[in-house]
Amino acid sequence: MSTLYLIACAAGPTQFVDEGIRRAQDRDWDVCLILTPSAARWWEPRIDVLEELTGHPVRSQYKLPWETDALPKAAAMLVAPLSATSLNKWGAGIADTLALGLVSEGVNMGVPTFAIPYFNRAQAAQPAVLRSIRDLRAQGVVYLDGSAGYEPHQPKHGAPEQFPWDMALDAVRLS
Ligand SMILES: Cc1cc2nc3c(=O)[nH]c(=O)nc-3n(C[C@H](O)[C@H](O)[C@H](O)COP(=O)(O)O)c2cc1C
Repeated sequence: MSTLYLIACAAGPTQFVDEGIRRAQDRDWDVCLILTPSAARWWEPRIDVLEELTGHPVRSQYKLPWETDALPKAAAMLVAPLSATSLNKWGAGIADTLALGLVSEGVNMGVPTFAIPYFNRAQAAQPAVLRSIRDLRAQGVVYLDGSAGYEPHQPKHGAPEQFPWDMALDAVRLS
């Protein structure tokens, strides 16, 4: 069984990340969940549910220098959902969360790295968004938008419970 790092930001569908974990497990992935610190706040009262589901600690903070790695090595990484903020930080090379540290280094160490966004059209209108997508793709990140992933919705018209977990997981390949 190969290990998939499922990395979730504080965007609507993260409320339903347990569904994403189950669908990845149905595809025979050993899933390790990494949350951004903001996303971890959303799950704080129920983090044990996610740890029980994955069989791994749910990480959201960088380890301390003397600590050993808590998770097995990733065969692939999927950021789902990717928030507008994390997209722009990642594009700018800012890795101030464990989530962004893993993907920004991982993709440049040859780990297949995929990302599916979830944000609205007002957030997508920031000029930084297109620049970030271009710069991530240039590094080899498979950014799933358009018919292959998620297109920004009208503000206040999101449907986070209908997030296309399956489409994102279908795109994940080991090489
Ligand atoms: C209830 C709530 C829902 C949010 N939903 C989204 C969202 O769907 N997409 C998004 O890009 N940002 C959303 N945000 C804003 C992000 O949470 C915010 O930009 C945060 O800094 C993202 O940090 P992270 O990427 O490190 O998780 C939401 C914020 C709140 C409070």
